[in-house]
Amino acid sequence: MFRKFTFSALAALALTAGAAQAAGEEGHVEDIDFSFEGPFGAFDQMQLQRGLQVYTEVCSACHGLQYVALRSLHDEGGPGLPEDQVRAYAAQNYEVFDEELDDFRAAKPADHFPGSNLANAPDLSLMAKARAGFHGPYGLGINQFLQGMGGAEYIYSILTGYTGETKEEAGTTFYGNTAFPGGWIAMAPPLSGDDVEYADGHSTSLHHEAEDVSAFLMWAAEPKMMARKQTGFVAVLFLVVLGALLYLTNKRLWAPHKVKKNA
Ligand code: HEC
Repeated sequence: MFRKFTFSALAALALTAGAAQAAGEEGHVEDIDFSFEGPFGAFDQMQLQRGLQVYTEVCSACHGLQYVALRSLHDEGGPGLPEDQVRAYAAQNYEVFDEELDDFRAAKPADHFPGSNLANAPDLSLMAKARAGFHGPYGLGINQFLQGMGGAEYIYSILTGYTGETKEEAGTTFYGNTAFPGGWIAMAPPLSGDDVEYADGHSTSLHHEAEDVSAFLMWAAEPKMMARKQTGFVAVLFLVVLGALLYLTNKRLWAPHKVKKNA
């Protein structure tokens, strides 16, 4: 019985593995030790601010962040910009259409980031969550579980995974990319290193810029990650204490009835 079961389990595994390999062409995702990984991980405020700068100066030319409110740049645990800086940032960088004015006006903290400028460039608000899982051996998502490899790593790998090859298909140029499923992406390499100038003097090598903007997009997709982890920790602590109390109560309740007969 057990042997039979083992055999079917093995056969099933082999089949899934084969199918996954046939579907294959999964991209290669690099593992990065981001500050926000692990049960006590937290966003690095300076990194988020640098990532915001890369996003603003490079990515926002094509992409949008339409589900992210500009005022959340002030949030604790996020980029933590002072309120007056959020106001200045919104007004300087973005224009939104105001239905009451029936015209465009400078953005305010109460507005959201604009959507994508380029029709085929996806909105990046939730990208880091959307692409979080399913890589690792056979697309099982094991890498995310064991190494904390999620969407931020995927975005980093896209940005640094260009092979330098290009091909033309139906009038569109595709760029060879080792992380993008299928190996060819329609986004020209957006970063090459030294694309921005950081105020804090941090390195602007391609890898650092890519790390910063990926961390920023992780925050954009999950701004309450810190609160979630804290709540999770308190909940586990609570359950441990409750579990211990219940165990002791149970012992005590049954103690009179559990006297050994022949003792
Ligand atoms: C010149 C326009 C342009 C710029 C600038 C640009 N992108 Fe893109 N991006 C695109 C297009 C177009 C696609 C769609 C590619 C495709 O589906 O093949 C895309 C796709 C993506 C994807 C999605 C990959 C997926 O899994 O679907 C991510 C992530 C991304 N870009 C991140 C960025 C980041 C981060 C920056 C800034 C550092 C950036 N992009 C700058 C045009 C751009």
